[in-house]
Amino acid sequence: MNMIAEEKLQYCLQYVKERISFQPEIALILGSGLGGFADTIEIREVLPYQEIPGFPQSTVAGHAGRFVFGYAEGVPVVIMQGRVHLYEGYDPADAVLPIRLMHLLGAKVLFLTNAAGGIHYDFHAGDLMMITDHISTFVPSPLRGKNMDSLGVRFPDMSEIYSKRLQGILRRAAMEENIPLKEGIYVQTPGPAYESPAEIRMFRTLGADAVGMSTAIEAIAARHCGMEICGVSCISNLAAGISPTPLTHEEVKEAADAVAPQFCALVQRVLSAIHEANDNA
Ligand code: HPA
Repeated sequence: MNMIAEEKLQYCLQYVKERISFQPEIALILGSGLGGFADTIEIREVLPYQEIPGFPQSTVAGHAGRFVFGYAEGVPVVIMQGRVHLYEGYDPADAVLPIRLMHLLGAKVLFLTNAAGGIHYDFHAGDLMMITDHISTFVPSPLRGKNMDSLGVRFPDMSEIYSKRLQGILRRAAMEENIPLKEGIYVQTPGPAYESPAEIRMFRTLGADAVGMSTAIEAIAARHCGMEICGVSCISNLAAGISPTPLTHEEVKEAADAVAPQFCALVQRVLSAIHEANDNA
């Protein structure tokens, strides 16, 4: 489908609105191996990406590739069970089309999750890391091209990408669930190859604590259109050069599976806390 990005977004939005009448408050993206959370909610509607004409498809094993709409302990949510990555061949604007769509469906908060390699020496496979900031310099901007003025300004501020308010809620939720929560900076690479040890040393020198192939461009697109963001990385492996073994996608999925119960408990508590805080605002 050869449409400009804004037309394609409107086209997909119209299609989804005709199929689904559900207004989400919070949008949640589930990363590699973390998709199981969507099966724990009270599901109202499911929409596979492939049914939406023009919508980018998720082609990665471990990513279901569908929107799930429903209530997580009473909180109206839209969940992306599987995301689209730059390395699948999509233009940056296509990779963030789903974010903009969820915003236009009414979601004000975006909760990003992913599997990531641990760069910080104190991190271990199975740790959960709250993302406090990111480095997106190594991937193209999702805002490149004609600005979508109806969504946001040409030069959006990025001084607080991951909301301080939501970081507070995440810290409290982790404490209440007795889940140790690391904190750190996420760096996005283009993928799909994992990094070389030299690249990991460089990222550490630059201040990054975890590395992955998604998320930063999604956060930029979401800030551009005014969403409030929080993010959690599941440290699925130690990054190249720290890990004694070669990295595999299977290892990433297995580590995510192992931490899934903690992850689900944390996500649920955070969603409820955000919902309550919004109600009281
Ligand atoms: N590097 C990049 N992306 C990743 C990794 C990694 O080590 N682990 C999970 N996603």
